[in-house]
Amino acid sequence: MKVQQNISLKSFNTFGIDVLAKEFAVFSSADELTELLTTNNKQQASTLILGGGSNILLIKDYDGLVLKNEIKGIELINENEHHIDIRVGAGENWHEFVLHCIQHDWAGVENLSLIPGNIGASPMQNIGAYGVEIKDVFYSLEAYNYNDKKVYTFTLNDCEFGYRESVFKRKYKNQFVILNVTYRLNKQPKFNTTYGAIEQELEKMGVQELSIQAISQAVINIRSSKLPDPKVIGNAGSFFKNPSVTKEQYESIKLKYPNVVGYANADGSIKLAAGWLIEQCGWKGYRKGDAGCHARQALVIVNYGNAKGSDIYNLSEEILQSVKEKFNVTLEREVNII
Ligand code: FAD
Ligand code: EPU
Repeated sequence: MKVQQNISLKSFNTFGIDVLAKEFAVFSSADELTELLTTNNKQQASTLILGGGSNILLIKDYDGLVLKNEIKGIELINENEHHIDIRVGAGENWHEFVLHCIQHDWAGVENLSLIPGNIGASPMQNIGAYGVEIKDVFYSLEAYNYNDKKVYTFTLNDCEFGYRESVFKRKYKNQFVILNVTYRLNKQPKFNTTYGAIEQELEKMGVQELSIQAISQAVINIRSSKLPDPKVIGNAGSFFKNPSVTKEQYESIKLKYPNVVGYANADGSIKLAAGWLIEQCGWKGYRKGDAGCHARQALVIVNYGNAKGSDIYNLSEEILQSVKEKFNVTLEREVNII
């Protein structure tokens, strides 16, 4: 729990950006967190909570205290014939938790296999992939409030989950530290294979009988074939969200670009594939210095080695401007800029 000075954050973010934290400490319980914040008299404005660092872009040295959440533990807290409730420490790794569930035949998170990062950020971002989001398996969470130093319980409704959104990114931004999350998993699986290339991949794998193990493996195979491994090339997954437009705007884009990729939302608007928009603007495979746009997935901005956070940010700005000019669609960054 020692507070260290001037620590490089390069190995703590998957973009591999080399900036310094003025102060850095690790905590592994709510008590340690409280002690760190009170003895150092820290306000939320000068504190950054870090999980796996897989959804942040550090654009400058951090002039405050970076606190790495290492709260561990996986605890079964409730079980009946249909489901189990399992409480997980915010510092546990997400994919290891998914594998733990699959080993125990607990269904619900198999489509979310291989997403980097830790448990604590999963509700923050309402992480999602292949037709499933955290909100589908979320039961509750406990979070520490910086202002009154108390721990609060949040239920599904309290979190106000949306597409890569939650109350923690909006009205409670920088006000809570998520300590643990309770997920409700199913004993009888409801297989979800309709999204993207899952069925095609299952066929390729020669799967005769569907299982959560097979779905997890199919998702892992698809993801590995197109998303760069941050251990090899720095990145934070999709840099932008997929933007939604009105049906009219979609139709007018489609008139000019018949191949536009879009999916209907429940409210009638259309979600466009940002990767497609970016590719159409000619960015796929582009590289300037060590900042680039991935050759297999244009939505992923990459650091080939020594890019600065500002190089990545400036490239994202150029991409955003060109999509605006060509399609009159404004992209929103998914990655948290710090
Ligand atoms: P961090 O990057 O450490 O933090 C993200 C934000 O949450 C920061 O603002 C941080 O301050 C805050 N935060 C973190 N922990 C806490 C806490 N305990 N309490 C309060 N605030 C906290 N995401 C998807 O949704 N779907 C995908 O398919 C997907 N694929 C990806 C693929 C790759 C190759 C990569 C690199 C990333 C991908 N992501 C994806 C993004 C990323 O994995 C998720 O957003 C993940 O949940 C981030 O977790 P983390 O622990 O690394 O968060
Ligand atoms: N596409 C292109 N060119 C590209 C990339 C994509 O034309 O370079 C088109 C393709 O037609 C493809 C479609 O876009 O069919 C969708 O692409 P993909 O299936 O790769 O998914 P995505 O929309 O780019 C989203 C999430 C991912 C998540 C996948 C799978 C967002 C912002 N991204 O990507 O999440 O893993 O779906 O569900 O919603 C993340 O959040 O970091 C992330 C990786």
